[in-house]
Amino acid sequence: MIEILTPAELVRAGRTGALVADILQALKARSTVGTNLLDIDRWAQAMIVSAGAQSCYVDYSPSFGSGPFGHYICTAVNDAVLHGLPHDYALADGDLLTLDLAVILDGVAADSAISFLVGEARPPESVALIDATERALHAGIAAAGPGARIGDISAAIGAVLTAAGYPINTEFGGHGIGSTMHQDPHVSNTGRPGRGYKLRPGLLLALEPWAMVDTAELITDADGWTLRSATACRTAHSEHTIAITGDGAQILTLPSQPHS
Ligand code: MF3
Ligand code: CO
Repeated sequence: MIEILTPAELVRAGRTGALVADILQALKARSTVGTNLLDIDRWAQAMIVSAGAQSCYVDYSPSFGSGPFGHYICTAVNDAVLHGLPHDYALADGDLLTLDLAVILDGVAADSAISFLVGEARPPESVALIDATERALHAGIAAAGPGARIGDISAAIGAVLTAAGYPINTEFGGHGIGSTMHQDPHVSNTGRPGRGYKLRPGLLLALEPWAMVDTAELITDADGWTLRSATACRTAHSEHTIAITGDGAQILTLPSQPHS
């Protein structure tokens, strides 16, 4: 089902989006060399609860995972890219960490992911990978203009990832979002312009380009959730929730105050 939000629901969506972004930025600031992924999960839980929001993950049991997720945030390190199950691991200098968070506040969900390097090291291959997923995300948002279709967004995302030299996996991509986290339409990270559902004001989409340096193939970790690159190469993932408006798209998952 595709949901179209009312103006009042869109105001609430903006509040949920800012909360998700603020939590992600606070967790990024606290994620340094030696930080344990389980601490990040506990901090996320505390911030979600104190905001009066509900986790979209803790009880989530989709077909692509094993049982309820049981945690409050996805933490994916280096070759782990999607659905990273927090576990007992202390971050090292130069680790590439992806934090992916979705919550519901006042009945409206928002979903966002950031990838960044921990500590001081800046391995060039990882910097380029993160940069490509961020540029792909912003190209996708720019393509969500009046009269655009889902295929225009997919094509814009795919063009950036392909030009950067990364193979594209089509098993997981973006999605509609609203009263629940995962809704139609699916937004592939590659596609053909002019195809698919025509965007309408009030539609919320989570766009989420992700990439792996040298493969399009995923393997599932023994934990039953975490998806890793089949070649153990590094990976990155950038996601925003956007609202389609009358004259383009508005990013909802922006922090309420500027962060570095
Ligand atoms: N938020 C993820 C996405 O971007 C989904 C994570 S589902 C979980 O669509 F169960 F792994 F948390
Ligand atoms: Co998502």
